[in-house]
Amino acid sequence: MDYRFSGKSGLQLPLVSLGLWHNFGSVDPYENARAMLLHAWENGVTHFDIANNYGPEPCSAEKTFGRVLKEDLFAHRDQMIVSSKAGYWGWDGPYGNGGSRKYLIASCDQSLKRTGLEYFDIFYSHRYDPETPIEETMQALVDIVRAGKALYVGISNYPADKQKEACEYLRQAHVPCLIGQYKANIIAQQTLIENLPVAIEQGTGFICFSPLAQGLLTDRYLNGIPEGSRATKEVFLHRAQITQEVVERSQRLNQIAQKRGQSLAQMALAWLLAQKGVTSVLIGASSVNQLDNNLHALDNTTFTQQELDAINEAIKE
Ligand SMILES: NC(=O)c1ccc[n+]([C@@H]2O[C@H](COP(=O)([O-])OP(=O)(O)OC[C@H]3O[C@@H](n4cnc5c(N)ncnc54)[C@H](OP(=O)(O)O)[C@@H]3O)[C@@H](O)[C@H]2O)c1
Repeated sequence: MDYRFSGKSGLQLPLVSLGLWHNFGSVDPYENARAMLLHAWENGVTHFDIANNYGPEPCSAEKTFGRVLKEDLFAHRDQMIVSSKAGYWGWDGPYGNGGSRKYLIASCDQSLKRTGLEYFDIFYSHRYDPETPIEETMQALVDIVRAGKALYVGISNYPADKQKEACEYLRQAHVPCLIGQYKANIIAQQTLIENLPVAIEQGTGFICFSPLAQGLLTDRYLNGIPEGSRATKEVFLHRAQITQEVVERSQRLNQIAQKRGQSLAQMALAWLLAQKGVTSVLIGASSVNQLDNNLHALDNTTFTQQELDAINEAIKE
């Protein structure tokens, strides 16, 4: 595994990080979740990303992570980077959603209890909340660090102008923004255009979530919709999204990947890592095999101009 500095900070992150959004909840087999976490760890993945509400059931991914940490990995706590977040729905009522100081601090405390950690390495504001003054949200992050509950802070899903404002506030408070977390992949490039340049200018890292477009940039749907795949769960990805056009686009990209001697997933990750300013790709997986396949993306992360042109051609609508 190679590591990159997160922006201008002294903290290095692995090129591939593992997220626990799906497949680590209380409804998922614990042994599979544990096997993926251990396989990642054994292969140099030092960064694990969670959020207060990941499950299902909501909040249970933090408990799964806490159990594996306690039973298998606690001796390595100082060798890993664990992040959590608050911003989307966490609990009912006016204090369990958004960017208020009340929500962020209470949620951070709950997340620490669920994971059994004394502190998070990174704590994020999960989204920009237009109903809360940005100063309040940022000061809550600063105070979380000052209280010893997190070492660094990050922001996620902020529009570019608010991203800039947030970074400037945090810098002045001497708790510089470590990293921005944004959806970015070959078929969703908007944040690479809008937010990545701001991250570079502000000296923060940039970590790409859903780098495989939830499975669309893998071989998962090349020949139909397999039972148990994310699209069959009909929550964040739907069967209706796997249209003929989408499958044909994946097939075109898959052919380019094959010529490079890679799986489509490997090429999709390598493509992101080749973008200047990208710190890490934050993948999901539902099996050790998928995870292992993805880690081999690092075997080839350079592209010829011809390959880049072919990718651009393949994604044209
Ligand atoms: N900040 C935010 O707002 C936000 C939002 C979303 C996600 N995230 C973070 O980003 C992480 C990753 O998101 P994501 O799960 O959407 O990422 P992703 O890597 O785009 O998608 C992961 C899914 O793709 C499929 N897959 C992965 N590798 C594969 C392979 N080699 N072959 C075939 N299929 C493969 C699996 O689907 P199946 O389940 O069908 O097998 C897997 O669950 C999350 O866990 C979370 O930490 C953050």
